[in-house]
Amino acid sequence: MGFFKLTIRDVPLDNQTILLRADYNVPLNSKGEISDDLRIRASLPTIEYLLEKGCKIVIISHLGRPEGRDEKLSLEPIAERLATLLKKDVRFIDETIGDKVYQVVKRASKNSIIMLENLRFYKEEEADDLDFAKKIAKASGARYFVQDGFGVVHRAHASTHAITLCIPSVAGLLVEKEYTMITTAMQSPKKPLVAVMGGAKVSDKIPLIERFVELADTIIVGGALSNTFLAHKGVPVGKSLVEPDQYSEIDRIYKAVTEKGEKVLDDFIVLPVDVAVAPSIASNARRRVVGLGDVESEDDILDIGDQSIERMVEIVKSAGTVIWNGTLGYAEQPAFAHGSARLALALASQPETTSIIGGGDTADFALKWDGHGGKSFTHVSTGGGASLELMSGDKLPGVESLLDSPGSK
Ligand code: 3PG
Repeated sequence: MGFFKLTIRDVPLDNQTILLRADYNVPLNSKGEISDDLRIRASLPTIEYLLEKGCKIVIISHLGRPEGRDEKLSLEPIAERLATLLKKDVRFIDETIGDKVYQVVKRASKNSIIMLENLRFYKEEEADDLDFAKKIAKASGARYFVQDGFGVVHRAHASTHAITLCIPSVAGLLVEKEYTMITTAMQSPKKPLVAVMGGAKVSDKIPLIERFVELADTIIVGGALSNTFLAHKGVPVGKSLVEPDQYSEIDRIYKAVTEKGEKVLDDFIVLPVDVAVAPSIASNARRRVVGLGDVESEDDILDIGDQSIERMVEIVKSAGTVIWNGTLGYAEQPAFAHGSARLALALASQPETTSIIGGGDTADFALKWDGHGGKSFTHVSTGGGASLELMSGDKLPGVESLLDSPGSK
């Protein structure tokens, strides 16, 4: 499945100044230190490619959701981490627009890397303000805009949309790779395609489940998501999180499964047959596995049970492709991460199966679990909302607005 936009490989970038949008919205710990630099590491291939072409690179990104300027969310530590990873100087400027930026970029030599301050210190960023985008373009003096912040391409912001009206805009290697990996796995997967869905809320996942009803051969449902499916069937779920207002959506999903011609609904949408419960999510909470009828009113369902895990692993064994979106339990705590860990192990031990890990919490879990920085899987997405929207079949404004590759329309 070819990518439908121009990329950095398609345009004459040699010795040009490039404005590069990355997504360096990385998790920070309580001391404000970077706790996971996947997104920074994932941006290196594009930066290295641009350096090989002799480009001067001006990097922009957001971090967090500040309301105005907030030094705790400055990109300066990100610039330092990038410099360490690249083993090369990265000059940080505490502005994003204006004459200071313009002068520094103008004077910088070929192959310099300059990182500008957090885009979201300016309210115009999220407002997709064209004047703000023009100011960024002017200050950077860039010949091309390169979109490589896959995690943010589902937003129509000044640095993902308006900017493309100001400078010829192409995709970076990360955006191309993420887009191609995810759409190929969805639309022309190695069969059978097994979708594993978890996470907290049914309401967030309805469009994706509907898409998988069309495309997948089996959908395994776990996490708090499965509580609502179980409660909808009349199974007692104690005091677990459920969304009764989603029952009509679930009816719609089952109807679509029947219309697809699936004879045994429970073999297509595979729910847990047992669950792990505890009275609370306290850190010392003990895991107790019970059958479906045995969940008591004081129980909270926090993971799938052992028989469910075995059933899931059997299904995954015969899969050609597995797309995993959402942890299967309260995976922050090891006692309730059994389902997610067994799935990660199954995927890591069958490299012939294409394994696509959706971003956000699922990627965080898979990366923590994996001793090889995510290399045990075919692809770990850097985008939470972006991967969810792309898998759901939505158009991504930050990709749509890039220059089309010839013959793509
Ligand atoms: C993300 O982490 O999902 C992206 O960086 C987008 O951030 P946002 O949800 O604050 O727009």
